Amino acid sequence: MKTNKKTVEDSRAESVYSVLPADTNIYGNLFGGKLVEWIDSIGALVTHRHSSKNVVTANIDNLSFLEPIRLGDSVILHAWINYVGTTSMEVQVDTYREKKDDSLRALACTAFLTYVAIDEYGKPAPIPDLILKTEKQKKRFKEAQQRKEVRLKRKV
Ligand SMILES: CC(C)(COP(=O)(O)OP(=O)(O)OC[C@H]1O[C@@H](n2cnc3c(N)ncnc32)[C@H](O)[C@@H]1OP(=O)(O)O)[C@@H](O)C(=O)NCCC(=O)NCCS
Repeated sequence: MKTNKKTVEDSRAESVYSVLPADTNIYGNLFGGKLVEWIDSIGALVTHRHSSKNVVTANIDNLSFLEPIRLGDSVILHAWINYVGTTSMEVQVDTYREKKDDSLRALACTAFLTYVAIDEYGKPAPIPDLILKTEKQKKRFKEAQQRKEVRLKRKV
C-alpha cells in the first residue's frame, strides 16, 4: 500500500568532496570508479530520504564523464529524484568540479540511477508518490518514464 506523498525538495541532497592522493591515479586524475562510488552514495541517500526504506541500486545509466577532475580539486554533487514508480525511483546526479587553482566550476559528470526500495525479505516494497510542483519537475518525470521503458526493454 502507498504511503504519504513527498516533494522533490524533501529528499534533494548535495555533497562536497576534496580530491585526495588516494582518490587519484598516477597522473593525478580522479578515478572514475571513485566518482561512481560518491554518485551511488548520494543517490542512495536521496532515495532513502524519499522512501524511508532500505534501497538497492538496480541500474546506473547515462553516466558521462565530461571533464577531468584533478588532485586538489573540489567535487560537488547535486542529486534529486526525477521519477518514482510503485517501488523504484530514478535519481539524477549532476557532478561539478571546482578547480583548485582558480575555483572555476564546470559540469564534470551527469548520471541517472535507479533504486528499488526493499522490505525485510529483500523484495520490492511500495514507496510514497512524488509531488511535482514545477513544469521542470513534470518534464523530468516524463523523460524519466521514457528512460525506464527503455531500461526495462534492455533488461536481461
Ligand atoms: C533490484 C531488485 C530488487 C529488483 O527485483 P525484481 O524482483 O526483479 O523486481 P521487479 O521486476 O518486481 O520490479 C520492481 C521494480 O524495480 C524496477 N526494476 C527492476 N529491475 C530493474 C533494472 N534492472 N533497472 C531499472 N529498474 C528495475 C522495476 O521497473 C520495478 O519498478 P516499479 O515498481 O517502480 O514499477 C533485484 O533485482 C535486486 O535485488 N537486485 C540486486 C540489487 C543490488 O544488490 N544492488 C547493488 C549491486 S552492487
